[in-house]
Amino acid sequence: MTDTLDEVRIGGLGASRRRAEDARFIRGRGTYVDDVVLPGMLHMEILRSPLAHARITSIDTSAAWAIPGVRLVLTGEMAAQRNLAWMPTLSYDTQAVLATDKVRFQGQEVACVVADDPYIARDAVEAIVVEYEALPPVVNPKQAMEPGAPVIRDDKEGQTDNLTYRWDVGDAAATERAFAEADTVSTLSLHYPRSHPSPLEPCGSIADFDVATGKLTIYMTSQAPHIIRSAVALVAELPEHMIRVISPDLGGGFGNKVPVYPGYVCSILCSILTGKPVKWVEDRSSNLSSTGFGRDMYLDGELALRSDGRILGVRMHVTTDQGAFFADAQPSKFKVGLLHSAFACYDVPVGHISAHGAYTNKAPGGVAYRCSFRVTEAMYFQERMVQAAADDLGMDQAEFRRINLLHDDAFPARTPFGFLVDSGQYGKCLQLGLDAIGYQDFVAEQAAARARGRLLGIGISTMTEPLGAGNSREYDILGIKMFDSAELRVHPTGKAMLRTGARSQGQGHETTWAQIVAHELGLPADDVVVEEGDTDTAPYGMGTYASRSTPVAGAAVSMVSRKIRAKARKLAAHLLEVSEEDVEWELGRFHVRGAPERGVTIQECAAAAYTNMPDGMEPGLEGNAYYDPPNLTWPFACYIAIVEVDPETGVWDVLRFVAVDDCGVRINPMIVEGQIMGGLTEAYAMASMQFQTYDAEGNIVGSNFMDYLLPTAWETPGFELHEVVTPCPHHPIGAKGIGECATVGGPAAFVNAVHDAIRHTGVRNVDMPLLPDRVWEALRTGHDYS
Ligand code: CDP
Repeated sequence: MTDTLDEVRIGGLGASRRRAEDARFIRGRGTYVDDVVLPGMLHMEILRSPLAHARITSIDTSAAWAIPGVRLVLTGEMAAQRNLAWMPTLSYDTQAVLATDKVRFQGQEVACVVADDPYIARDAVEAIVVEYEALPPVVNPKQAMEPGAPVIRDDKEGQTDNLTYRWDVGDAAATERAFAEADTVSTLSLHYPRSHPSPLEPCGSIADFDVATGKLTIYMTSQAPHIIRSAVALVAELPEHMIRVISPDLGGGFGNKVPVYPGYVCSILCSILTGKPVKWVEDRSSNLSSTGFGRDMYLDGELALRSDGRILGVRMHVTTDQGAFFADAQPSKFKVGLLHSAFACYDVPVGHISAHGAYTNKAPGGVAYRCSFRVTEAMYFQERMVQAAADDLGMDQAEFRRINLLHDDAFPARTPFGFLVDSGQYGKCLQLGLDAIGYQDFVAEQAAARARGRLLGIGISTMTEPLGAGNSREYDILGIKMFDSAELRVHPTGKAMLRTGARSQGQGHETTWAQIVAHELGLPADDVVVEEGDTDTAPYGMGTYASRSTPVAGAAVSMVSRKIRAKARKLAAHLLEVSEEDVEWELGRFHVRGAPERGVTIQECAAAAYTNMPDGMEPGLEGNAYYDPPNLTWPFACYIAIVEVDPETGVWDVLRFVAVDDCGVRINPMIVEGQIMGGLTEAYAMASMQFQTYDAEGNIVGSNFMDYLLPTAWETPGFELHEVVTPCPHHPIGAKGIGECATVGGPAAFVNAVHDAIRHTGVRNVDMPLLPDRVWEALRTGHDYS
């Protein structure tokens, strides 16, 4: 029998164990890409385009070459000679590594310089003279789709407009019928503004091509080092076993460190050309203006409603702004992309989605910023539509959700767009949230406050997020199936080393993976060291994004531990001189059935694996496991915000915020709470202050932390956290992902609360961020801000 108290003592499942990695992080002893110094290392800087759309007429690099200490000036033309001026993207589009014909967004990579130190490289970049012939820029997708709009991707054969893709899903005819039967149709249109993951550490790489051995080592800020290795092998035509990608400590990622950026490719090419290690580390502005943005979607939706509050059908259309290159994970290929997962937590019989994307003269990306394939936009739109629908029906917003949420006996349930949601207690989560915030009392208080001229509002957001891609039937990258992996070595003294194919960016894998091993084997978590991020040592994995680590790599950790336990059982039988069937497992120990005092510890079994194994048994106690999840995991969240809007200024304050999260079994409750608080902070940022925009010339506004705002502890409200635990039926330890839920579901709670406070004006939508001037304008005019 597993003793729960013992498990917590050894740092197993459910222990709020202190984070193992923090011992180095809080002492400033982490090793990030920029901390790595290699002998003879050179430094690379990139010349970026000042214009959003222009033809390059000439590039003169002679003055840059003449600066002492400059080793290489690389242009697109030189890269083209090696077939590397363009690279493929995740969406099977192409992206310029260094511009050859045109520049297509402000900040695009035009040339780069390699020099003895970064200062010389930067001076030399400024000495490069580029002549441009300006072209009219296109800065939003609606403008891009107008007839006669300048064609941005004239490099692509057959491309005569700016359409990137067109796609639809669902049952259009059945949805049409549902709308014909509706008592009320509720509509809403809004824009989810462009935002940026802005990890604290920007992107960078050090490429080290060893001419003697032919081995290429790349230190790189990557959330998915193995896929990078395979991609480099395929694109650069280098043998994969001669490529080593090391992703050292990462200072945040949030989806920004999934794509391949031109800087990485240039550092590799420059190392091959110079025969020296070449380091490139971008600055803040480069990160904000040229690497993967998030969101930037125009959303139009309709709900078919029955007068008793039931949703009969949903119809949605999305227009995505892809920027100059279609560089994100093709949302129509990855089935949880775009709006596909919208309304998954509601009992909605039919739906139809149409989508199209457009090229614009803006930075490429469209990364899933702290979400699973862009579900943030889906959940935000869903919850804004739900609030508008409740208003249109004159119903209480909590009651409207209660009627339409999937009931406990509905699982497993098919969503309107075909996913299988396997478990949840949605009504319980909603009720817990409403009780915690004192919903009924608040409604009375709100009315009384309004009579005194105070504008109080309450906003709810309920959602389930599909986390843990794949399964291998439906998800792949470059054809490689979306599994993950773990390798465990238990040493003779009972200490262990675990490696996985995931890559933590601050989420605490070094702590929580050891807890899973502790749970499965009874080894104290402190006796398990965890390593990730080095393709020469870690088993092949698909990396960390989409909160897939716990659902997939975490499951692999369980499975490999169970393999080790199976071998340890044979060793125990040998040591106890009984047959294997007569051996029983308790946490950390095997004993003889019926004689619990006769037992051996897992550590004794480990020693025996190297010193006293039975005849015919292979020595050693190590193994690996590849895990292909049968389904996504579906955590659920209910977020409720209470705000007060100042009618004189439009400033709004968060008075209370309650979060109820159900991520199944929690490995480390403290880390889970940290993930939720971090996610809610980002949600608050998006709701209140954060966006990137472009002026009519295509100049970016939001390329520094003066214009692109991050909330500090000062602005961030307090969050009250609650939990419900519905174990995932198919995960070995019942866990579901959690890393992103709060960023995904949080924004709608804040925004719905502000709309609730200003409902008397008849304003239907104020686009995020809800800056005070927008709210004030809406209050003053009664007009939407879209
Ligand atoms: O893929 P990513 O690590 O970003 O997200 P995740 O799998 O949701 O995990 C985030 C962190 O929370 C990891 O350290 C997990 O092990 C931990 N976690 C947990 O302790 N219990 C859960 N049920 C889910 C995640």
